[in-house]
Amino acid sequence: MKALVTVTHPRQNSLTHAVMNRFIEGLKQNNHEVDLLDLYHDGFNPVYTAEDEKDWINPDKIYPPEVRKEMDRILAADTLVFVFPLWQYSVPSMLKGYLDKVWNLGLFGKVSNKKVLWICLAGGDQEHMSKYKREEMLTHYLNVAVSGYARMQESRVELLCNTLSESKEHIASLLERAYQLGREYE
Ligand SMILES: Cc1cc2nc3c(=O)[nH]c(=O)nc-3n(C[C@H](O)[C@H](O)[C@H](O)COP(=O)(O)O)c2cc1C
Repeated sequence: MKALVTVTHPRQNSLTHAVMNRFIEGLKQNNHEVDLLDLYHDGFNPVYTAEDEKDWINPDKIYPPEVRKEMDRILAADTLVFVFPLWQYSVPSMLKGYLDKVWNLGLFGKVSNKKVLWICLAGGDQEHMSKYKREEMLTHYLNVAVSGYARMQESRVELLCNTLSESKEHIASLLERAYQLGREYE
């Protein structure tokens, strides 16, 4: 299986990157192939321009080269995995820009065989995330609104909570969870 892993964080020594690395180690143990997209480090431009606008009448519209390149990477993958921190109970603006630009009409209808896994690092603990249905809101948004609208075959969210904890044991347990997720990924 080929996984396109997209990581979103401005710092490569972030916990988000450490989680991504452990997840990939697990995937590779399982002999899965990995294509890594680091949105910040690879210089993805998330600003949506007039050229990116969808053409509702023409599904064959030719999108800008940077967008087409990323669409091709999606089409070449069996599964898409996103690793990102929770910001304002949503995805960081960099990732939102990627989704706005790349998950567009040109892809719809061509990705119904793809699976998506959203690995989200949240500063809040599990109780905080459950309160006011924050976790429910996030999973509904990602699984139903985003993946569902693109007609992805399957979508699930894995929430890694309490990421700002000073407990080394807790952070180690999150990294171990990331490794196991990769190891068990089918
Ligand atoms: C701009 C910003 C917004 C954030 N918003 C939230 C939030 O809405 N809910 C939450 O639980 N944590 C929030 N956090 C905390 C991040 O989720 C936390 O810093 C991250 O999971 C830690 O991983 P990192 O060290 O890789 O950044 C926010 C952090 C930043 C910088």
